[in-house]
Amino acid sequence: MKVMTTFNIKIEIRRLQLDELAASDLRIVEEAKAMTAHSYAPYSHFCVGAALLLSDGSVYGGSNQENAAFPVGTCAERSAFFYASAQKPDVAPVAIAIAAQTEGHFTDVPVSPCGMCRQALLEAETRFGTPIRVLLYGEEGVYVVASIRDLLPLTFDGSELGS
Ligand code: THU
Repeated sequence: MKVMTTFNIKIEIRRLQLDELAASDLRIVEEAKAMTAHSYAPYSHFCVGAALLLSDGSVYGGSNQENAAFPVGTCAERSAFFYASAQKPDVAPVAIAIAAQTEGHFTDVPVSPCGMCRQALLEAETRFGTPIRVLLYGEEGVYVVASIRDLLPLTFDGSELGS
């Protein structure tokens, strides 16, 4: 006899105000907001900034970089992550903050990373064995998620490939 099994996946998203954040989290949220000014987004006019906090306390910012050949462009999150990884390949990322502006205003509701960026960041979580906290800035508050894995259930992390 077949018995159907249902798996429920639950994630926790906490919404905080800026003055409720720890100092290091506030620092990267402010950096992500500042990085929106460095976005190159002549096609979408959607300016995204990201900032990564590493375990040694250093912070690396990035912004979305578009191209006339659309798929060539990259998101702010991967821009920050690859920049950090290129400078400090052996230092674990511990948190990433993301903010976005459109028509000169930060979004009310936070923007969350696309699937490709989640997959890219998952690699670092898997490699270092430590979670990357995700801080999504919106004018209505900062959404905080404990790890990238929370945002990407049923992950493909390469463990299926063997070595
Ligand atoms: N974008 C990001 O940089 N991060 C996100 O989380 C969502 C989307 C960029 C890609 C593109 O340059 C523009 O926003 C519109 O999709």
